[in-house]
Amino acid sequence: MIEIENLTKRFGDRTVLDDISLSVPNGEILAVVGPSGAGKTTLSRCVSFLERPTSGTVRVDGKDFSRLEGAELVTARRSVGVIFQTAPLLRRRTVAQNIALPLEYLGATDASIDKRVTSLLERVGLADRRDYLPAQLSGGQKQRVGIARALALGPSYLLSDEATSGLDPSTTKSILGLLSHLRDDLGLAIILITHEMEVVREIADSVARIDGGRIIESGSVSDVILDPTSSLARELLPDRPSVPFEGDSEVWEVSYASRNVPLDWLTSIHTVPGISGAQVNVLSASVESIRGVAVGRALLAISPITPVGFDSYLRERGLHVTAVSAKAKEAAA
Ligand SMILES: Nc1ncnc2c1ncn2[C@@H]1O[C@H](COP(=O)(O)OP(=O)(O)O)[C@@H](O)[C@H]1O
Ligand SMILES: [Mg+2]
Repeated sequence: MIEIENLTKRFGDRTVLDDISLSVPNGEILAVVGPSGAGKTTLSRCVSFLERPTSGTVRVDGKDFSRLEGAELVTARRSVGVIFQTAPLLRRRTVAQNIALPLEYLGATDASIDKRVTSLLERVGLADRRDYLPAQLSGGQKQRVGIARALALGPSYLLSDEATSGLDPSTTKSILGLLSHLRDDLGLAIILITHEMEVVREIADSVARIDGGRIIESGSVSDVILDPTSSLARELLPDRPSVPFEGDSEVWEVSYASRNVPLDWLTSIHTVPGISGAQVNVLSASVESIRGVAVGRALLAISPITPVGFDSYLRERGLHVTAVSAKAKEAAA
């Protein structure tokens, strides 16, 4: 369990983090999102004890680590496994030797190192790459070595600052799969600092958005998605597909996030009064489930004209309706 309480960080008279409070129970993943310059890396340095907060506390399993010094601080840092954007691997060392580094620093015996490294290699799916050099690995495999090394000393929690930025989508998915496995299997608390909404959609249990050093929004992912006033919720919808459409058709976007939107909303559109004289074409539609909440986005082209009451019919069923094409905007007005 990590508890960040009233964390403030100033550099000179600049406040970079302003009264941040967040907590992550064991077995959960918190995603911290925010634009460049928001203070994400500073937060990550404070919660990995590389940077001392100006005020506030960071507790790990109930113990306040933010005021420690010297040897105690060094021990405290071992409770955090840090995963970097680019795994800082030593070029001339094999995969196994890179993973062994933190264990060597601790003075572990060769036999115990070998045993530990073997189990870490299996855990991250690199058992057959043991004697490879970093240059012989793909980006995703290097990241796995970094994760194995972060796990070497049995940390209480994992922290990653942009670990999947720069990886292609399928590699990102597999790394996120590994992280969620570590959460579930080892019961680790994990903080993922990221600018990618994909990370939030795929694996986060809770999310915090920071901007200008402050928390703008935070909560469990399912609560955030269901909050109609949340701007994060809109970003978590499936991406709007870029579908070309005729300039003179009425194109509407219908979106929703709900535990109980009637799943037949699209087929039941035929019961909208007056719709029988119109043709409804689905230009695109995507639906997914995020932490048990169904979210969807569809583009509908209606011709020759949208029946009066079409949008209110859908709104009454908990869907959001927006006019997309100029002609639909006229109809909506
Ligand atoms: N050591 C430092 N001294 C002064 N300002 C800093 C220092 N580190 C970061 N900052 C400033 O804090 C702000 C947040 O930076 P950072 O935490 O790196 O944001 P992010 O990771 O979200 O892009 C930036 O404006 C940056 O210039
Ligand atoms: Mg950063």
